[in-house]
Amino acid sequence: MKHDVVEKNVGLMIILTIVALSFGTLVELVPLMFDKETNEPIAGLMPLPALELEGRDIYIREGCNTCHSQMIRPLRAETERYGHYSVAGESVYNHPFLWGSKRTGPDLARVGKRYSDDWHRAHLYNPRDVVPESNMPAFPWLFENEIKANITGTKMARLRMVGVPYTDDDIAGAGPAVTGKKEIDALVAYLQQLGILLQSKR
Ligand code: HEC
Repeated sequence: MKHDVVEKNVGLMIILTIVALSFGTLVELVPLMFDKETNEPIAGLMPLPALELEGRDIYIREGCNTCHSQMIRPLRAETERYGHYSVAGESVYNHPFLWGSKRTGPDLARVGKRYSDDWHRAHLYNPRDVVPESNMPAFPWLFENEIKANITGTKMARLRMVGVPYTDDDIAGAGPAVTGKKEIDALVAYLQQLGILLQSKR
């Protein structure tokens, strides 16, 4: 039987397995690349303004994404707690995306406007001050460090190279927009816009 040839030849078996798996992958992935729903921004989505963009970088630097996901699954238990499930069109300008799956703390995909700026500041200065049982780390240095305004425009220019539609004016205005701001201002601004475009459908 021809099948014997494959079963008795490991090299051939490996090659044919790879071909079979690749075909499956292509069938799953290629349509997604052309599907509007997965690669077009949702209505009203704008690239992050300068301060929020710096806030996102601080979020990554401090490892917030190692304890907090930004991905609400389309399951009742999740949407009841966090709001509308996450859709791909919300993340098209995110490089890298921060969906994650590790939830030491709650999902933050729709935390925007859920708390006041003052609440976030108090919480980030020392989480135990507002949530006594919290085991989230404190980030007091964010209240002292200033944003390095000289590289914000370059960050935007680089993001534009991978498809984020920043304008020349955005890039020129980026430095002045963050000059003199503290890191905490940027991080809170970033948190306050997370997921707000789809929040009303909660
Ligand atoms: C070691 C894990 C850990 C890290 C790192 C961490 N958090 Fe948390 N976070 C938690 C836990 C646990 C809670 C729930 C208790 C609380 O509210 O403090 C929480 C709660 C929150 C909440 C409130 C969410 C809600 O819906 O009530 C926000 C906002 C938040 N974290 C933001 C951040 C930001 C921003 C950073 C990075 C600067 C960060 N966290 C880093 C564990 C973490």
